[in-house]
This record gives sequence, structure tokens and C-alpha cells, in this order.
Amino acid sequence: MSKEPISVGFCCLGNICRSPMAEAVFRHVVKTEGHIDKIKEIDSFGTGGWHEGESPDRRSSATCRKNGVSISHKARKVTKDDFERFDYILAMDEMNVNNLMQMRPKNSKAKVMLFGEFRRDQKLPKVVEDPYYGGSDGFQFNFEQIVDFSRGFIEKVLLA
Ligand code: 4NP
Repeated sequence: MSKEPISVGFCCLGNICRSPMAEAVFRHVVKTEGHIDKIKEIDSFGTGGWHEGESPDRRSSATCRKNGVSISHKARKVTKDDFERFDYILAMDEMNVNNLMQMRPKNSKAKVMLFGEFRRDQKLPKVVEDPYYGGSDGFQFNFEQIVDFSRGFIEKVLLA
């Protein structure tokens, strides 16, 4: 089992749809499954800053609420400090991973990974697709991926 509590940051593009949902769902799953003592900090941010200060997209909030998960966040852009503050930065898609790797200061602490690398259900796509221009189905599908990936992360990292 990990000795020190770990910090996890979730990253997408705008920090209003996918990553605040991932932050809320991961926190919920970690708490309900009894592992909050293994966590130091959970947060989320975007690679872009267009929505800074905004609350999550109402479709993300509605999807979380419908599934019994509380969500509260103000969008922000990733900073260089985040690469020292978090043990893991879990990105929603490959473009987010690539952008983060370009910004990542040399020798920084954070492991930058695609969140989907932790999936348990091999039938689920690894990429949490950008749902911004789609319908509410996209948000529910993102939610299901994020629950599965959160359980995988617990199993492979928190309980390893
Ligand atoms: P997110 O979704 O990256 O999941 O927060 C998006 C939100 C806003 C935009 C793109 C993606 N946008 O272009 O404004």
C-alpha cells in the first residue's frame, strides 16, 4: 500500500466539462469505498484558460447530480507548480497529455498519464472524449468511464 497520501490532479482542455467531473467522481468513489485516508489532495485544471473562474458546465453538474455525486469547482489553467504539487496528473485525452508533457518542467514530480490507462473494463475506450459540442449522452458516457477508471486507479495505485 502507498505509504504517503497522494495528490491527484485531473486535466482536460477547458476544465468545465470532463476534468471537474473526474475530480468530483474520483473524490466520491474514493470516499464511498473507504480510501480517503490515502489521499492528500484532489483537484482539476485545464490546458486552456478560456473558462477561468467558471463553474462546471451545467450538463456536467446535472450528470453528477443525477448519479448522486456532488460537484463544486472553479475552472483554472494548469500552472508549472501543479507538476510539483501532484503525484499524478491524469489527462482525459491524448492532446491533453501532449500539451502537459510540453509544459512539464524537467525532473518534476508528477506522473502525467492518460486517465484511461487505469481502466478496468477493457471494452471502454481509454479516451474521455470532449463532450462540449455533443448531447447529454456524451456526459453520461464520460461519467461511466470515469467511475471505471477511478476504481482502476484505486486498485492499481492506492491499494498497490
Ligand atoms: P472540457 O470541455 O475540456 O471537457 O472542459 C471543453 C470545454 C470548453 C471548450 C472545449 C472543451 N471550449 O472550446 O470552449
